[in-house]
Amino acid sequence: MPYDSVDRPSIERMVREFYTDVLQDDILGPIFTKALGDDLTNGKWYEHLNTLYNFWMQMMTGESPYQGHPFPPHAFIGPLYRETFERWLELFHATVYRLFVPEIADKFYKKANILAEQFMDNLGMNDEDEDEEY
Ligand code: HEM
Repeated sequence: MPYDSVDRPSIERMVREFYTDVLQDDILGPIFTKALGDDLTNGKWYEHLNTLYNFWMQMMTGESPYQGHPFPPHAFIGPLYRETFERWLELFHATVYRLFVPEIADKFYKKANILAEQFMDNLGMNDEDEDEEY
């Protein structure tokens, strides 16, 4: 049964399953392995997953200790392309629609999409794409 509400346990499951898939992806896997290693149970991943639990609780419920700034780390990861963000969104879409009822999955995905567009703007990726339909 898909989750029909958002709470800490459902968010934790979503985040863990998403990054499990990310690590196995041919485009995203190497980027995350370089930044955090390839073992979701190591200390760096523990920190990252915790940050992401709090981040998504903040985005979806507004009740969370997350007070960070999501963008800055992405400026230092190494070259990120539109294709990288598209793959990220594709995997995220698959994860949230697998776990949540469509209305909630849609809310997650819309928020992720807005953030991804902002990140791409910040990275200067949208400058010459104005006539493309994304
Ligand atoms: C091209 C796609 C993306 C890649 C490769 C990527 C990769 C990463 C990496 C490597 C980190 C840093 C981990 C660390 O060193 O602690 C990070 C942090 C983070 N990412 Fe992404 N990311 C991507 C897209 C996104 C999107 C679209 C979102 C939001 C919906 C997002 C949300 C976050 C957040 C909240 C953090 C933690 C920021 C903090 O420290 O407070 N990422 N990401």
